[in-house]
Amino acid sequence: MLEAENLMVFFENAIAINDLSIHVKRGEIVAILGSNSAGKTTLMNTISGLLIDMKKKESRRGGIRITIMGSLKYEGREIINTKPTQRVRMGIVLSQERHPVFRESDVHENLKIAGYLQPSSVVKERIKLVFDIFPVLEKLRSRKAGLLSGGEQQMLSIGIALVANPRLLLMDEPFLGLSPMLQADLARATKDIGKQGITILITEQFARPIMPVIDRGYVIENGMLVFQGTREELMDNPEIRSGYMGI
Ligand SMILES: Nc1ncnc2c1ncn2[C@@H]1O[C@H](COP(=O)(O)OP(=O)(O)OP(=O)(O)O)[C@@H](O)[C@H]1O
Ligand SMILES: [Mg+2]
Repeated sequence: MLEAENLMVFFENAIAINDLSIHVKRGEIVAILGSNSAGKTTLMNTISGLLIDMKKKESRRGGIRITIMGSLKYEGREIINTKPTQRVRMGIVLSQERHPVFRESDVHENLKIAGYLQPSSVVKERIKLVFDIFPVLEKLRSRKAGLLSGGEQQMLSIGIALVANPRLLLMDEPFLGLSPMLQADLARATKDIGKQGITILITEQFARPIMPVIDRGYVIENGMLVFQGTREELMDNPEIRSGYMGI
């Protein structure tokens, strides 16, 4: 479904993604593991195309120079230069680490706004799915988004991404800052999303909460691939265990 080959991303002369190749097959849940500044967000922004917008913005205001190289194929089509809005239409949807929500609008309104490009019948169905996956959001449907807890806002961000009808859902550190209980909820929700036929690429700094959910994973350091394998191979690797699972 997704094949990234020899991706390189530079911010000025600093290299953030270094000759990285990854692939994701339809129906898989794949992890990108990496510590702070490993390049996780940059990779997600490269795949979602957000980096193209950032690059344009920077060059308009004479800011830092962003260079993107390599190949990114989605369903066999080269998309490395495709605009992010177009990629969303193709089904590539990013749920950001801290997605901006409309703080003055309630949960239900936020979800409706997220579906503005789609027919209302479809949006209704998508919102029902979001409430099935995150029952807590249904309970809070009339609460202003600005009043939600951090964890609840994180669920809402993922809900917003789901309304956009993804075929490939990109999640950037969704477990960050969640209590163990919420992490378990989110792990279950991630599995449920996968069962809907949605392919998932998920970044995380700590492997433990996502291990039960993923099929495969890549470990990156300084933008470079250092290890890849199935869940079992990751679990069996002593360096990964001590570096990313704390065991
Ligand atoms: N807009 C930017 N301008 C300049 N350098 C950047 C920019 N965004 C990221 N970088 C650099 O690229 C490298 C990778 O950063 P990135 O945010 O992708 O890491 P990360 O793995 O998401 O880290 P974290 O776990 O802290 O979120 C870092 O060295 C960072 O300083
Ligand atoms: Mg990040």
